[in-house]
Amino acid sequence: MTELALSSEDLRKVYFSKGAPPTEALAGVALEVRRGERVALLGRNGAGKTTFLKIASTLLRPTSGRIQVFGYDVDRTPEKARPYIAVVPQEGKPFFHLSPREQVYTYLRARGLTRETARARTEEALEKMGLLECANRLSVTLSGGQRQRAMVATVIATEAPLLFLDEPTIGMDPFARRAVWESLRTLTRRGSTILLTTHYLDEAEALSDRLYIIERGRVLVSGTAEDLKRSVGGTVKVLLPGASSMIESFRSFGTCVDDGDALTVIVTPERLGELMDLAVRSKLLATVGPVTLEEAFLRVVGRSIDED
Ligand SMILES: Nc1ncnc2c1ncn2[C@@H]1O[C@H](COP(=O)(O)OP(=O)(O)OP(=O)(O)O)[C@@H](O)[C@H]1O
Ligand SMILES: [Mg+2]
Repeated sequence: MTELALSSEDLRKVYFSKGAPPTEALAGVALEVRRGERVALLGRNGAGKTTFLKIASTLLRPTSGRIQVFGYDVDRTPEKARPYIAVVPQEGKPFFHLSPREQVYTYLRARGLTRETARARTEEALEKMGLLECANRLSVTLSGGQRQRAMVATVIATEAPLLFLDEPTIGMDPFARRAVWESLRTLTRRGSTILLTTHYLDEAEALSDRLYIIERGRVLVSGTAEDLKRSVGGTVKVLLPGASSMIESFRSFGTCVDDGDALTVIVTPERLGELMDLAVRSKLLATVGPVTLEEAFLRVVGRSIDED
């Protein structure tokens, strides 16, 4: 069997809606995910991430291009691809009239698992997602974060070979997010493959082996988080609260990101001393730290927006 869990070539999607011009959501996406990898799709709102995941998970048909799941053509033979995949859709909700326990169990049974396996996996997933206390309450009575946990529990319980998770931790508290990360790591250790989207770049960094940034329906960059950070020209960042009006004085040191009131400057370690001198002379408070994926993302995507 192929070593690729997912591959796409020149994948395109144009949405046609009444009374509006067509929207080119995907403009030729080529992407590969190897078996056992955890890959994150990043990108601004409207970049095309959900469209890609919907096509990959057979929920939407592409306008053109090719996409395969474990060697099966997703568009031509969706019935062959479906048994391999499980999806947490963006803004998906558990069935309101089912409890989390019923929801997970019913879904596993519908996928053909035996009663015994479904029961064991349901309890394991509920426990992992911290849902045991509310496992028998109707989902309509759960909090937003608890509902999202129920969605993730349903999908991790499948242990499907390929999991698509569209913003899986949205609305979750920091403990729940970490529980999701741990569960996803366990799944890939057991051989599953994961493609997820997230706007939390700390999450992308903690979780993904590789990432793709999608911008206006195209792959802007791909690589590891480290690759992306190296590409922005520095490994050190200096946060200068209240300095956004002084952006011109700091531009020569490297990349400047204006964060409202504060200014973040990305520099090489060699120029740090000089920058700190200027900060002290300007009576600015300066905090020094490593460049985060978020800063690299802002820079890389910002550069692409500026170019257009
Ligand atoms: N059903 C639809 N009909 C028309 N246009 C659509 C439809 N769904 C999405 N779009 C458009 O396609 C583009 C890509 O949307 P998509 O949902 O894939 O973005 P995304 O990267 O998932 O964004 P977000 O981070 O906000 O979830 C956007 O311009 C969006 O407005
Ligand atoms: Mg989306």
